[in-house]
Amino acid sequence: MHLALYRKWRPKIFEEIVGQEHIVRTLQNSIKLGRITHAYLFAGPRGTGKTTVARLLAKSLNCLEGPTITPCLKCSSCIEVAEGNSLDVIEIDAASNRGIDEIRDIREKARLLPVRDRYKVYIIDEVHMLTTEAFNALLKILEEPPEHVVFVLATTEPQRIPLTILSRCQRFDFRRLSREEIIKQLEKIAREEGGNITGDALKLIAIQSQGSMRDAISLLEQLLVYSSQEITEDLARQLLGLPTYEFVYDFAKSLANYNLDEGWRLIQQVFQLGKNPQQFVRELLQHFRNLILLKVEPRLSHFLSLTQEEYEEILEETKLFSVKRLQEVINVLLDLENRLRDLTNAPLLMEMSLLPLFITPEEKKVQEIKVEEAPKEEEKVKSEAISSMPISLDNIKERWSQVLERVKKRKVSLEAILREARVLEISDDGRLVLGFPKNFTFLKERVEELPNRQLIEEEIKKIFNISLPLRFIIIEEEIPLIEDEKVDIDPKDIENIFNGKIIKEGEK
Ligand SMILES: Nc1ncnc2c1ncn2[C@@H]1O[C@H](COP(=O)(O)OP(=O)(O)O)[C@@H](O)[C@H]1O
Ligand SMILES: [Mg+2]
Ligand SMILES: [Zn+2]
Repeated sequence: MHLALYRKWRPKIFEEIVGQEHIVRTLQNSIKLGRITHAYLFAGPRGTGKTTVARLLAKSLNCLEGPTITPCLKCSSCIEVAEGNSLDVIEIDAASNRGIDEIRDIREKARLLPVRDRYKVYIIDEVHMLTTEAFNALLKILEEPPEHVVFVLATTEPQRIPLTILSRCQRFDFRRLSREEIIKQLEKIAREEGGNITGDALKLIAIQSQGSMRDAISLLEQLLVYSSQEITEDLARQLLGLPTYEFVYDFAKSLANYNLDEGWRLIQQVFQLGKNPQQFVRELLQHFRNLILLKVEPRLSHFLSLTQEEYEEILEETKLFSVKRLQEVINVLLDLENRLRDLTNAPLLMEMSLLPLFITPEEKKVQEIKVEEAPKEEEKVKSEAISSMPISLDNIKERWSQVLERVKKRKVSLEAILREARVLEISDDGRLVLGFPKNFTFLKERVEELPNRQLIEEEIKKIFNISLPLRFIIIEEEIPLIEDEKVDIDPKDIENIFNGKIIKEGEK
């Protein structure tokens, strides 16, 4: 059976563990001194060695020649732990065993003596997923642990673990591995696996994997499987579906110029070309981090591992941004990166988060004023012109896709915004009312800008041959951000769906 490369390269002895020095040293000392705690908490990002160290600890404790910091790896205990079928070293995934029954079960079995070995070691992964009752049951065991039991609780989210539990554990915080650490390890693996990969490609992997050794090794494996020729940085980008640096530079430029159309085009390309949106956002983050650091202090370049070329290019680009602007962009990107974990919503999340960054400060001010004093005069004139309406709401809904099409021909980005609006009603004063979901307020603001609104009104006039002024409102409901559902909504149902939940402009 093919063994995933990261499994194959799981450190078998303490010396093979990269980074995490103080954890390794502390554990080795306590094993040597026989000072074993009954509960350890291993906290830290995924792929940094928590499970690996937990298993090593178990081997050290239970090796027939132990307890020892150099388990033999040959005895039945060592072998069984490595293969994951030891009766005394039990791994539990709390993500799929969250309930009280599972923990009660552990509690009962933990009382029994180990089947063969010195200790019963329970490794509970993603322990933050346990239910409250399960945590309480776990706490009961931790309060009076049997002599022969050791718990290793592993988690990527220690902040979600109750204090009562935390206070009973010896805590170790695993840190992200540095790029250098990752590159060195990948070099070693590539060499031994007979791969042919350039240093730049390895650096690319190290950047992408964000400190997770597992992710880094998995990316390396993908490349080694795909290609037997030399893997350059370009080839690696291509194979992994990563956006090229041009993308990132171009996007930054479009942000600098508040060029919405260009920014829009680039975002769409990320998807059309099948690039990974999360990676795109990560690279943007990386780029803007470089920008802000160099903006604040060019001498910081020493810490950024940039080539001379990159350094000069980025330094030049810093002139296009203020520090405040860079902070704004970075904040949005950080938030977006987090939310992109769920890729089903990626296109929408990308657009929703990034497009408001293209609204210039002046535009923002204009909009604020506009909300306060809506252009009443002009509205009245237009409303009177169409007092007797020869057209029904159904007519409009039927041909709404034509409106979108025509708007798209004139301004792609505007059509994309308008697509999110729902045709709601024709108001008593003869306006076509369009609703945006609450979480799309910024789209409403964008479309309300006079040139945009006029453009849409012009196209409506061309199709229906009447002047139909627009009004945009916010609908109380939040539209679930799921692409399919969006498409499935029948325009005729919208009134029903949102019935009674419409709030008037200005009340939002
Ligand atoms: N500190 C490390 N040193 C060497 N390899 C590591 C390290 N951390 C993770 N790895 C690699 O990643 C794989 C998964 O690591 P694991 O310990 O399961 O991560 P975690 O439990 O923290 O998510 C290991 O099999 C190993 O190949
Ligand atoms: Mg793990
Ligand atoms: Zn052994």
